[in-house]
Amino acid sequence: MSNAFFVTTPIYYPNGVPHIGNAYASIIADVLARYHRQKGDTVRFSTGVDENSQKIVDKAAELGLPVMEYLDQMAVEHRRVWDGIDISYTDFVRTTSPSHAAFVQSVLQKSFDNGDIYEGVYEGMYCRGCEGFKKATDLTPAGKCPDHPTQEVEHLKEKNYFFRLSRYTEQLQAFYAANPHFVTPQNRFNEVLEFVNQGLEDFSVSRETNKFGIPLPFDGSQVTYVWYDALFNYISTLGDEADTFWPAQVHVVAKDIIRFHAIFWPAMLLSAGYALPGNIVTTGYFTIDGQKISKSLGNVIDPVEYAAKYSRDLLVNYLLTTIPIGQDGDFSEKESVLAFNNRLANTLGNLLNRCLVLTLKNGGTIAVHPYQSDLAAAREALLLTYERAFAAFDLRGALIATYEFAESLNKYIDTVRPWELVDVDPAKLEDVMYQVAESLRTMAILLHPFFSPKMEELLSRIGVPKDVVLMKNGNMGAALERKTGFSVLEKGEPLYMRISL
Ligand code: ME8
Ligand code: MG
Repeated sequence: MSNAFFVTTPIYYPNGVPHIGNAYASIIADVLARYHRQKGDTVRFSTGVDENSQKIVDKAAELGLPVMEYLDQMAVEHRRVWDGIDISYTDFVRTTSPSHAAFVQSVLQKSFDNGDIYEGVYEGMYCRGCEGFKKATDLTPAGKCPDHPTQEVEHLKEKNYFFRLSRYTEQLQAFYAANPHFVTPQNRFNEVLEFVNQGLEDFSVSRETNKFGIPLPFDGSQVTYVWYDALFNYISTLGDEADTFWPAQVHVVAKDIIRFHAIFWPAMLLSAGYALPGNIVTTGYFTIDGQKISKSLGNVIDPVEYAAKYSRDLLVNYLLTTIPIGQDGDFSEKESVLAFNNRLANTLGNLLNRCLVLTLKNGGTIAVHPYQSDLAAAREALLLTYERAFAAFDLRGALIATYEFAESLNKYIDTVRPWELVDVDPAKLEDVMYQVAESLRTMAILLHPFFSPKMEELLSRIGVPKDVVLMKNGNMGAALERKTGFSVLEKGEPLYMRISL
């Protein structure tokens, strides 16, 4: 009786290779996917590229390449990045694929037939950077798009087809009221509610001037405008498994595209007769050393290079512990190293090291002992906090609670001073080491969705590789519940080497 779990990242524009900002959303989705896999859910995890965009045509022209040739290269580049930092996606969407186009045409036709898509004239401002129409109130006092201040906003007048969003205001309000956690975090949801409460206007779903894209099935002179095409990637990728995996439990996006996901998307789904997704997890935006991530500033960080220079675990630990999901933050290389040294090399690494050394002094094995009541209580509290944190998409909360448990174990060792027991009281030593090893085993299981290879190594080094097998088979619960002894063969290298700045 396995549950289906479907999580998505945005499909990224392939007019560049993914940078650390894009990697943030993908890492969050990856941890959620891994957590659900080890719990036994059947997971689909989609990512991909948003190809039908004027930006891409412009970029290919700039490089003197045929568009499809450029797109083929960029799809390879994007996969290289995600594979390079071990993002465990199951689906990689390309919106130029014929199956995606056919699906988008089918939903456009449904909404045209029921009167939700109608012909009109668009006149107003358009930002190429956002691929979005703008109202005067969306622009800066200088008349620029706040997200693309170096470009001019264009004035457009053309025949367009519109989606009757205005019709859905009340249905959306009722849906939000019935699903008070639809958007995480709450402050982002409040912004969405405020926007909807002001009343919704119909929006354009096609462009006359763009030639690259999916033609409207009812008017071949127009192609569908980027968002209508992009959002439906989340269903088109499921093919004939949509019945099993749709609706998605989680769409991970950043605040820049929250309105499209929390307002337009549910209305488009209602119109086409699809169920609505469970949660829109919205991240903030981060800067690098206080500056916007931008090619012109030359501060773009390649996530694969960063992971090669340090490690994937350093990147994941830093991104997920420093910034609570939803808030804006700042990325600093120095802080990322300090956070790694602090949490992974010191707190966790030292604890394992002490466990290995003292277990070897005890002859290399530890039999099952009763788990001390205060530790047992702390472990139960940790499991509860961890589960609640995951249910609320608070990955930082799950990590910090686990690290704090590790710190409390280091303090326990400082207090009990097991090294003084080595020759004096071997029975007591073994009992103490059981407490430490069992706690470490617990932490490795909980940290596995974040740092899979290292946690598997940790479990092997304390002689419980069976937990790895259990998790790989979706039996995280059984792994946490079982009672087991431990065995250590050698001290070996530190699990995480301290990095000097
Ligand atoms: O918007 N900090 O694609 P995109 C945090 N194709 N996250 C960041 C970031 C930063 N500085 N910069 C980018 C698109 N991101 C559309 C999406 S989905 C149907 C279509 C992340 O290439 C963040 O998750 O501009 C943001 O939502 C996404 O990259 C936008 O990527
Ligand atoms: Mg963008």
